[in-house]
Amino acid sequence: MENKTERKWWKEAVVYQIYPRSFKDSNGDGIGDLKGLTSKLDYVKSLGIDIVWLNPIYGSPNADNGYDISDYDDIMKEFGTMADFDVMLAEMHKRGLKLVMDLVVNHCSDEHEWFKLARSSRTNPYRDYFHWWPAEKGKPPFRPGNFEVDGSGWRFDSLTNSYYLHYFSYKQPDLNWENPKLRQEIYAMMNRWFKKGVDGFRMDVIPFIAKDTSFPVITQKDLDEKYEGRWDVYQASGPGLHNYLQEMNKEVLSKYDIMTLAEGAGTTKATAMNFVDPDRKELDMAYHFDGVSLGYVPGYFKKMDPNWSLTAFKKIYSDWDSVFANKGWGTIYLGNHDQPRMLTRWGNDAPEYREAASKMLTTFLLSMRGTPYYYFGDELGMTNIKFDKIEDYRDIETIAEYGKVKNAGGDLKGFIDNQKNGGARDNGRTPFQWDAGMNGGFSTGIPWLKVNDNKNDINAEAEEKNPNSVLSYFKKMVKLRKDQKDVLVYGKYTLLDKDNPDVYAYTREDGNKKVLVLLSFRKTGGSFNVGKMQLGEEWINNLQPLKVNGNTVTLQPYQACIVQLK
Ligand code: NOJ
Repeated sequence: MENKTERKWWKEAVVYQIYPRSFKDSNGDGIGDLKGLTSKLDYVKSLGIDIVWLNPIYGSPNADNGYDISDYDDIMKEFGTMADFDVMLAEMHKRGLKLVMDLVVNHCSDEHEWFKLARSSRTNPYRDYFHWWPAEKGKPPFRPGNFEVDGSGWRFDSLTNSYYLHYFSYKQPDLNWENPKLRQEIYAMMNRWFKKGVDGFRMDVIPFIAKDTSFPVITQKDLDEKYEGRWDVYQASGPGLHNYLQEMNKEVLSKYDIMTLAEGAGTTKATAMNFVDPDRKELDMAYHFDGVSLGYVPGYFKKMDPNWSLTAFKKIYSDWDSVFANKGWGTIYLGNHDQPRMLTRWGNDAPEYREAASKMLTTFLLSMRGTPYYYFGDELGMTNIKFDKIEDYRDIETIAEYGKVKNAGGDLKGFIDNQKNGGARDNGRTPFQWDAGMNGGFSTGIPWLKVNDNKNDINAEAEEKNPNSVLSYFKKMVKLRKDQKDVLVYGKYTLLDKDNPDVYAYTREDGNKKVLVLLSFRKTGGSFNVGKMQLGEEWINNLQPLKVNGNTVTLQPYQACIVQLK
């Protein structure tokens, strides 16, 4: 019953994502750093995870917290030195942990040497490392620029009377992958990191690297007809894209036993396989946005609809499972540094429900097929911080969106309120809660982003001591996934009772064993009809044993159970 996929270490792994700025500060400047991270590797190891994915730690002026790189071969000053990096990597490897770095090569920083030279004159040899539109041709055709109040992806640079392209902020000029010299620079840089011993890359917005450099005008009709009405789908459809990825595979990736993950911005169920089909020799995995995009109210910035549909949620994850039913390999995640906390968004962070709801979401993530990417702090049940004022936010995206509402004379208080349960990225970036002490044990200085007040109740120290904590459950679930990998990693997934509005139910099976996974996503619990299935041993349960009456299983609020079928 297993799909025909070849077994690989990165398919069996649990990836733990660490946002380094918020993990552990060793020098009291309020910013997490590599020495701090290294000092906590025993904790990381104790989780049972296999791979650490670190957000960018390269030289950066931090317009977008490291996603604006000014030196690919250096370490961000706030994070430490290359010597600190070498110690950290060695200490990870000593513990059997692998390290996946973030690779940000759709764009760099406007403070990178390449860009400084490129903007200095139209004839500078680095000019073609970027995309320019000479102003004598008039205004360039619209392209969206995330993180800009005016929404434009072009910025006028007066020195050379030209516009340059930036899909993100103007501090993040897009690199020109059409230029073979640029591509060779990137491959050489990647090779240097692999030679240092890193175990893979998570590739930031990699589908956006290739552009149609004739920069055609895109009408709404084009967008609707060819790109599902979405700019990100257009941006991920550049003509050279797969040639470049195949070239990268040949010149870099194929030489090492590493893993790669495409941040799948703009990819769809129809295009995802092109990135990860092993026969094409490009990348290993991609992550989609369909799941995390569900449930936002149209017309608002990441405002959560409290009545989001569980049946739609189930359909998304089931359809994506079927994309990789016979080849390729999927991923699963509910939180990361671009998302609010999964507990607030998909569970329930009220004190009476949060433990059960956290454990339920963990059960989901670790019982699906596809490599789980688990976000730091979710193993404690960390929640959205719910800031009351814009001054508390540090994120370039939220600040730009606030600026848009302000310029339009919109409802600013409403904007802030919507972000409390909604998607502001800083909700998921607050410092890790190590203990109930000052700043949650994160730093002795003033943290760069406030620590959540609930650190007294939700923290690693307390949860490590409690065998029933969210943390202890996470460890148990990681172990279960590993012990039962034939079923829980490679086994076939089948959705059951797709229209049940409260319960997500599915089976996983290999040739020998079959389990039923039952998850209540509601504070009202839910019920499920087992029909002819014969329930056997419960492998894990976040609350009391299942209540079965005849054919009906009644689930308590946010109950999760994996039960073997006879
Ligand atoms: C995706 C990253 O995950 C996000 O944090 C960043 O802002 C953009 N790409 C731009 O690099």
